[in-house]
Amino acid sequence: MSKAPTVRLDRLLANLGYGSRREVQDLIEAGYVLLDGDAVIDGDERIALTPDLAARMTVEDEPLDPLPGLVLMLNKPVGVTCSHKEQGPLVYSLLPERWRARNPALSTVGRLDKETSGLLLLTDDGALLHRIISPKANIPKRYDVTLDRPLRGDEASIFAAGTLMLEGEDKPLLPAQFEAVSAQRAFVTITEGRYHQVRRMFAAVGNHVTALHRDRIGALALPDDLAAGQNRVLGEAELAQVFQGA
Ligand code: URA
Repeated sequence: MSKAPTVRLDRLLANLGYGSRREVQDLIEAGYVLLDGDAVIDGDERIALTPDLAARMTVEDEPLDPLPGLVLMLNKPVGVTCSHKEQGPLVYSLLPERWRARNPALSTVGRLDKETSGLLLLTDDGALLHRIISPKANIPKRYDVTLDRPLRGDEASIFAAGTLMLEGEDKPLLPAQFEAVSAQRAFVTITEGRYHQVRRMFAAVGNHVTALHRDRIGALALPDDLAAGQNRVLGEAELAQVFQGA
């Protein structure tokens, strides 16, 4: 078995957002950091980054935050943005303050636009992020779409054709799945992530999206009990679901 990497305790805590090196040093020296119930009072001590560390270490009586390699699911509400390019509060403002100070930083896995709600992943694992958003990954993303006008009836065949050209683009969209739910509501599943893609697909068939909500990435569904604005850590089995259905 390969040995777990080690890191200095003060560096570990600073990188997890517990404070500057000086601040975490104070926490450590004051005996607030316990490993297996015993205070570790030397910030130079090297700690093995074993998967069970978060269960064995406490900081001020709370379990240590998850180690790097963190993946979160967030139920993004309407009105928050994934990018500095849009006006308004960023999705990161919904995370605990300490998580916003982590190094490596958490980034959104792709984007939802400001007026779109639903399932958004965040991770500090750059390689994983690229594995999910890479066009080669071909991961389906499902959207629940509410429309301004009744469906025409030919949306399924138009979206499935692989010939639909969005305004201002020179490459047709890949085939997308369409399932009507009611006269003015449908599920659309796409594997690409072009700018405002779903809204523009409906504009291309003479309609207008009034509400857009992502409820699935791969086979991972947004849980009913995760309220808008809430997040939780994704387990390994749930992460594997992201890659199912590709
Ligand atoms: N399509 C859109 O139009 N907006 C999103 O946020 C995602 C897909």
